[in-house]
Amino acid sequence: MIKTLLVSLLLSVTVGAQPSAHCRCRPSDICWPSQQQWSTLNDTLGNKLVAVRPVASVCSPGELNAAACKIVRDLWTDSVWRSSQPGAVQWENWEAWPQQNQSCYIETANMTCGQGRISLYSAKVQSASDIQQAVRFAQDHNLRLAIKNTGHDFLGRSTAPESLQILTHNMKDIKLVDDFIPNGAPKNISEGPAVHLAAGVQLPELYAAVERHNRTVIAGSSHSVGAAGGYIQGGGHSPFGAWKGLASDNALEFELVVANGSLVTANLYQNTDLFWALRGGGGGTFGVVTRVTIRTFPDVPVIAYNLNFTTSATDPQFWDAWEDWHAALPSLNAAGGSGYYFTLPNLPLSANMSVSSMYSLLMFPEKTNVTEIHHLYLPLISKLQKIPGVTTQKMAIPLPSINSTDLLLSKDGPSKLTSAWKSIGWGPGSTIVGHVVAGGAVAANGEKIDSAVNPAWRRTVTHLLFGRSWSATATPAEQTAIIKNMTEVQIPILRSVEGADHMGAYLNEANAYEPEFQKSFWGDNYSRLYSIKQKWDPNGLFIARKGVGSEDWDDAGMCRIKRHSGPSVTAGHREWPLGN
Ligand SMILES: Cc1cc2nc3c(=O)[nH]c(=O)nc-3n(C[C@H](O)[C@H](O)[C@H](O)COP(=O)(O)OP(=O)(O)OC[C@H]3O[C@@H](n4cnc5c(N)ncnc54)[C@H](O)[C@@H]3O)c2cc1C
Ligand SMILES: *[C@@H]1O[C@H](CO)[C@@H](O)[C@H](O)[C@H]1NC(C)=O
Ligand SMILES: *[C@@H]1O[C@H](CO)[C@@H](O)[C@H](O)[C@H]1NC(C)=O
Ligand SMILES: *[C@@H]1O[C@H](CO)[C@@H](O)[C@H](O)[C@H]1NC(C)=O
Ligand SMILES: *[C@@H]1O[C@H](CO)[C@@H](O)[C@H](O)[C@H]1NC(C)=O
Ligand SMILES: *[C@@H]1O[C@H](CO)[C@@H](O)[C@H](O)[C@H]1NC(C)=O
Ligand SMILES: *[C@@H]1O[C@H](CO)[C@@H](O)[C@H](O)[C@H]1NC(C)=O
Ligand SMILES: *[C@@H]1O[C@H](CO)[C@@H](O)[C@H](O)[C@H]1NC(C)=O
Ligand SMILES: *[C@@H]1O[C@H](CO)[C@@H](O)[C@H](O)[C@H]1NC(C)=O
Ligand SMILES: *[C@@H]1O[C@H](CO)[C@@H](O)[C@H](O)[C@H]1NC(C)=O
Ligand SMILES: *[C@@H]1O[C@H](CO)[C@@H](O)[C@H](O)[C@H]1NC(C)=O
Ligand SMILES: *[C@@H]1O[C@H](CO)[C@@H](O)[C@H](O)[C@H]1NC(C)=O
Ligand SMILES: *[C@@H]1O[C@H](CO)[C@@H](O)[C@H](O)[C@H]1NC(C)=O
Repeated sequence: MIKTLLVSLLLSVTVGAQPSAHCRCRPSDICWPSQQQWSTLNDTLGNKLVAVRPVASVCSPGELNAAACKIVRDLWTDSVWRSSQPGAVQWENWEAWPQQNQSCYIETANMTCGQGRISLYSAKVQSASDIQQAVRFAQDHNLRLAIKNTGHDFLGRSTAPESLQILTHNMKDIKLVDDFIPNGAPKNISEGPAVHLAAGVQLPELYAAVERHNRTVIAGSSHSVGAAGGYIQGGGHSPFGAWKGLASDNALEFELVVANGSLVTANLYQNTDLFWALRGGGGGTFGVVTRVTIRTFPDVPVIAYNLNFTTSATDPQFWDAWEDWHAALPSLNAAGGSGYYFTLPNLPLSANMSVSSMYSLLMFPEKTNVTEIHHLYLPLISKLQKIPGVTTQKMAIPLPSINSTDLLLSKDGPSKLTSAWKSIGWGPGSTIVGHVVAGGAVAANGEKIDSAVNPAWRRTVTHLLFGRSWSATATPAEQTAIIKNMTEVQIPILRSVEGADHMGAYLNEANAYEPEFQKSFWGDNYSRLYSIKQKWDPNGLFIARKGVGSEDWDDAGMCRIKRHSGPSVTAGHREWPLGN
């Protein structure tokens, strides 16, 4: 212990800062805010500050509340409910803190309920000025800050241990305008019809609001992902990407609270570096976005095309069919098609029978002629029909509007996916989800739009996704084995297809342990992002896992391990004030 202290002391002299400059304040530290200070923050926020426990705490022996526990059990897998709860995110593993042996899963809450990575306090903000108050408080007291919108982040970026949470969920304003003039633009520059979205708006709310005006937007397909948070700031792909590009390609303006507590506007006319970074640089990194303005488009008719093929589960011909599908994708995409496909190499239909199956649904906007789309698929279908053992099914679904695709995309697609996850579990190689969300306008926008999105998007044909999970009782060692195999064995196999220089990963749907995330997520644009980050947030108030600048911090974002561009130092940590 003395040795640790000496080493830390030496480093602190070198760097010339107090321990609090290396590490955030923790509840055990003297710098942690007093009850009085928390209470003052609560006053400033109009009583919207709450102390937070994990949602399942009401089922634990010490905090048992039978009625509340029943609600938690009933809603445990409900993503809409989870999005509203300060004490929950969407992926339970990010609520736990395995390094500290803390979790509060519903399956084990009857034993102990550890706080895990759930924030200790939540500011349930309703306005930009509430956000300013919370940001200033975190900055003044050197707190770990977590911004939670819906908590959907696959990499656990919306939760952080021993943190103050800013919950944006309750900021729901939506306002359509016919003629959007960016703040600070010359009076004659109008961007046309657009919609302003407050930080907490979720995708179904956005779609419902624009459809009332017979308009549509480029956004994702989910019942509860947020429209203005990590989704669009990370790039934002859409089943209509080939038609109009990425969500972030259609962003016109952001309003945000930056680290010093100021409320600023970023668009093509002011704070252009932030505007560049916020379109693809990732959530939780440059400030708290209070509002985003995006383009709207007239709604148009669509033809949805569903193609399935199936073989018995052990039939190697399945992969021949899979290859033919991928060979046909570029031409389907070039003809305007984008959407999703789900590959289930081993789907048990009953105790005695399993199949390999691929289910695809591509959208062709501004199309009404079913024959035309059938003709596009004809070469592929005749190829598939020549492979012995392959059964194909196809169906063209003409729809009057993009709005009517909601039923197909938000219910059938994801529920199909969910039941697939459920039925086959998470064994190796179980489900591969293909996203045909680029090509077309996503590719073409590379010439027109200068933003921080991964340059790989402009060349992408398909974005493939698979996941791994563990049980509530898996030991940290078991979890590590799964993570290690995924990171060191399975992903390198996939990366070897074209090599790291020609491929990339989508920062919002990536491996939480991606080794060279700077390159995978942003390619050549990383160094510019890093310098914008240092300019706007020199102290690293906003740190998100595998986000820009996160390499300067430890895994939990609690202690700085590196001065930006400076020498590497080992941070002093909890042992510090103990001095024993
Ligand atoms: C069911 C499902 C469907 C999905 N569908 C799509 C899809 O169609 N297309 C697609 O591109 N992606 C999709 N995703 C991935 C999605 O983009 C990410 O999960 C994204 O992180 C969600 O952002 P959020 O704000 O809703 O979530 P959160 O987890 O709350 O936030 C994500 C990150 O953004 C930060 N953040 C949130 N709000 C703000 C804010 N106001 N200002 C600054 N930072 C903020 C958080 O701190 C965190 O770092 C999907 C994910 C799921 C689980
Ligand atoms: C904030 O004030 C409200 C209203 O008095 C109270 O219910 C809440 O518990 C307070 N929050 C904290 C963290 O004390
Ligand atoms: C983790 O906590 C559980 C429950 O308190 C306990 O049974 C177990 O021994 C702990 N494991 C470790 C590695 O500390
Ligand atoms: C907790 O619940 C699980 C599942 O319901 C059960 O198997 C286990 O025995 C319970 N443990 C305790 C300590 O009650
Ligand atoms: C807008 O006005 C500015 C001067 O205020 C002028 O330089 C510019 O050419 C005008 N642009 C258009 C599209 O009319
Ligand atoms: C939307 O379109 C429908 C059908 O064409 C029409 O009846 C309705 O008036 C339109 N609504 C608006 C707000 O334009
Ligand atoms: C915060 O930073 C911005 C941009 O550098 C600056 O304009 C503003 O004055 C700063 N605000 C405060 C309160 O220091
Ligand atoms: C599986 O096959 C066996 C033998 O043919 C049969 O007896 C059994 O009912 C089948 N089970 C199911 C679930 O189909
Ligand atoms: C529909 O497409 C087919 C095939 O391209 C074409 O022959 C036919 O003329 C088209 N029908 C209409 C009404 O345009
Ligand atoms: C494709 O498979 C899905 C899921 O099994 C099914 O709902 C759909 O009807 C199938 N499509 C066709 C054209 O048969
Ligand atoms: C949009 O689609 C939903 C069903 O997905 C439907 O209930 C609603 O009436 C549609 N709205 C318009 C304006 O077509
Ligand atoms: C690791 O991944 C490889 C490749 O997918 C697989 O063959 C192997 O079974 C995995 N090992 C473990 C322990 O999961
Ligand atoms: C961002 O990446 C693109 C594509 O590689 C490149 O053309 C552009 O110059 C880069 N921009 C910056 C600022 O590095």
